Amino acid sequence: MRKTNSLSPLGLAVIILLIFAILYVGVTALQENREYQKEAAITPTPSITPRTVRITEDPTKPTSTPTPCILQVNSIGLEVKTLQKRLKELGFYAGEVDGQFGQGTKAAVTAFQTQHGVDADGIAGEETLAILYSDKAQTFVPTPTPSPTPSLLSTGSSGEEVKTLQRRLKELGFYTGEIDGDFGKGTASAVKLFQQQHNLSADGMAGQKTLALLYSDNAKQIVITPTPQTIQVMAGALPLLVNRDNPVEKDFVPADLVDMSTYCDTAVVKIKYSGTQGVREAVDALMEMLSDAKAQGVTKWQVSAAYRSYSAQESIFESNVREYMKSRGLSRTQAESATLLTVALPGTSEHHTGLAFDITVPGTSMFVGTTQQKWLHEHCWDYGFIIRYTDEKQDITGFMGEEWHIRYVGTEHSLNMKNSGLCLEEYLQYVKQ
Ligand code: DAL
Ligand code: ZN
Repeated sequence: MRKTNSLSPLGLAVIILLIFAILYVGVTALQENREYQKEAAITPTPSITPRTVRITEDPTKPTSTPTPCILQVNSIGLEVKTLQKRLKELGFYAGEVDGQFGQGTKAAVTAFQTQHGVDADGIAGEETLAILYSDKAQTFVPTPTPSPTPSLLSTGSSGEEVKTLQRRLKELGFYTGEIDGDFGKGTASAVKLFQQQHNLSADGMAGQKTLALLYSDNAKQIVITPTPQTIQVMAGALPLLVNRDNPVEKDFVPADLVDMSTYCDTAVVKIKYSGTQGVREAVDALMEMLSDAKAQGVTKWQVSAAYRSYSAQESIFESNVREYMKSRGLSRTQAESATLLTVALPGTSEHHTGLAFDITVPGTSMFVGTTQQKWLHEHCWDYGFIIRYTDEKQDITGFMGEEWHIRYVGTEHSLNMKNSGLCLEEYLQYVKQ
């Protein structure tokens, strides 16, 4: 039997269909390719297929930074290297520029963020990086850290640790004295105030707890204690401040001076030196006060000093210096330093204002502890006077306590100062804020 190789009509139809199918697929592919080539010509991304082109919302965004860069622990690469280099340049980073984001880099980023008011999470995100590479980036400012020793600074301590302590207390507004490294009364009261305002036991000694808080981020600026009820500042002139930082002109003479030796009732007060002058308003207040004292049975008052000109203060200062040199065998420099604790340099004495009076008891050299002194300290405020120099405020005023020296500021201020416990320097700083 002969086998035939001819195709059946069905087989032929299948082959023809297959040929058409192949031709169709080929033409479609060619068309698609032509479309792609067209798009590729206008879009500068020839290496990717049209389906992978990302549509960005902001067409102005540069294509070189397609995704926001976040660098954090374990990030590696060139961006990390650049980051480390920049942090190093600004003084925040001291480690290797190795392109590996470790704990050192994290600490540097955190420090940078803290200093620049950015959320300090140690992750260099968009905001941090923007500041870091801008003109706003500041160089590292170290915050003082407490020295581990000694753990207690208190009255009598001295040295660098005390200086650092004073500087920090000053930075926070608690201390206004000199940064001299001597822990005296002023430093103690600043520490005490800091402790009071931070709910620590207020003993005026800087122990471990106080120091830790003082140098931490939780240390707060001073809040001036007087509440609005205790300080009522009225319209009108503020008291005149005369001290070492605020001298008066050499030829300054206050207006309205009166000769107290003729002006004042000698039955109420003795004016020790004839020709002693004072500003009328202050002298009137003084006389009203001493008359009231007399009416209450407290008599025997004396004014030992009131207005002093520049030259009068100069001769007092000079004779004090000479006395120290003669009686104590001090050098001129030593004698001047000693004198400065009790006598103001010419031009810096409150007596130059005609508003200050030295009150004593006739015939005695002691005023401290007398009935007159006690009465004066209790009542002077009601007549517009303040006790200007106290031991407690020596670091601020520059003078040792003078129980006899009163200063007229007017009742509105004297009562405020009595209630607040602020000395004149502190009070003026407060009301001028
Ligand atoms: N004794 C005071 C401070 C003065 O000299 O003005
Ligand atoms: Zn005085």
